[in-house]
Amino acid sequence: MAVVLGIETSCDETGVGIVADGRLIGEALASSMEEHARFGGVVPEIAARAHLESLMPCVGKAFAEAGVSPREVDAVAVTAGPGLATALQTGVAAAKSLALAWDVPLYGVHHLAGHVAADTLEHGPLPARCVALIVSGGHTSLLLLDDLARAPIRHLGDTRDDAAGEAFDKVARLLGLGYPGGPAVAKAALGGDPDKIGFPRAMPGSYSFSFSGLKAAVARWVERSPGDVHVADVAASFQEAVVDVLTAKAVRACRDHGVPTLVIVGGVAANGRLRELAAERCARAGVELRVPAPRLCTDNGAMIAAVGGLLHAAGEPASTFGLSVDPSAP
Ligand code: KG4
Ligand code: ZN
Repeated sequence: MAVVLGIETSCDETGVGIVADGRLIGEALASSMEEHARFGGVVPEIAARAHLESLMPCVGKAFAEAGVSPREVDAVAVTAGPGLATALQTGVAAAKSLALAWDVPLYGVHHLAGHVAADTLEHGPLPARCVALIVSGGHTSLLLLDDLARAPIRHLGDTRDDAAGEAFDKVARLLGLGYPGGPAVAKAALGGDPDKIGFPRAMPGSYSFSFSGLKAAVARWVERSPGDVHVADVAASFQEAVVDVLTAKAVRACRDHGVPTLVIVGGVAANGRLRELAAERCARAGVELRVPAPRLCTDNGAMIAAVGGLLHAAGEPASTFGLSVDPSAP
């Protein structure tokens, strides 16, 4: 049995997870989210300091939950990028020290591979071919995957401007709903009418996305009718426009490439309406939909351990001294 410890510190969540043969056995999460709230976004220096404080207590908690000892760890995995440079460095420095002390291989993991692998912790290994829609605060990407551990990943499309999560965060700010915006907009939308306002659905070429026009349309709407903005209706109509575009393009990618499985991951995949509409459209198109539980959609250490497990099993070369962070990893 291979036991892998995973560390995630790319943004404001300090995540540690322990995975044994593809199964999550222990995890811990700490967040500096509240410290960033009054700035309206993540402040890198604050995030990095918080990681330094939280990381080793999280490692201790994850071991306690897993019921294994550090001596049983076979490999360490850590997010190497993309992400905030100073935040990433705290995780990589800690992971190097642990791998060195335990004399086990260290794997640098791409944050987005981690998001995709999160699904394997709940639904088992991914099928031979699948389309992945990654929707987070920093990314909106459609990928064609073969083997997460080594095969080339085909990039189908990206956002041309704002990421889906970023759009949620910005619209939350416009509506005075606070940070982080995604869960706040989703909550406000529960009491609103998604068909009340026909916000634009940008459909740029092929599998690209664009959300800045939608955000601007929401801003104009709020500006024009400040007296009687019904926040719930604006939130619901905005959310509907985002999930409509995301699900339409993802299902079309499956159909165009003859791929029977769609996996949706990343923080925005925690969105209830996205999950609902994706399930509806996938069922209609005969596509199997895989979406992990919301707590596995947002950043966590277990997803990084999951990729580490795949790399270890595939016999991929490890790095201990040489690993460096790659904040803008493609
Ligand atoms: O994957 P993640 O935790 O961190 C990044 O890698 O960016 O994603 C965070 C993003 C934020 O923009 C947050 O507002 C959004 O995911 N998010 C949501 C929901 N929960 C988190 N967006 C919409 N609905 C949600 N329920
Ligand atoms: Zn993420």
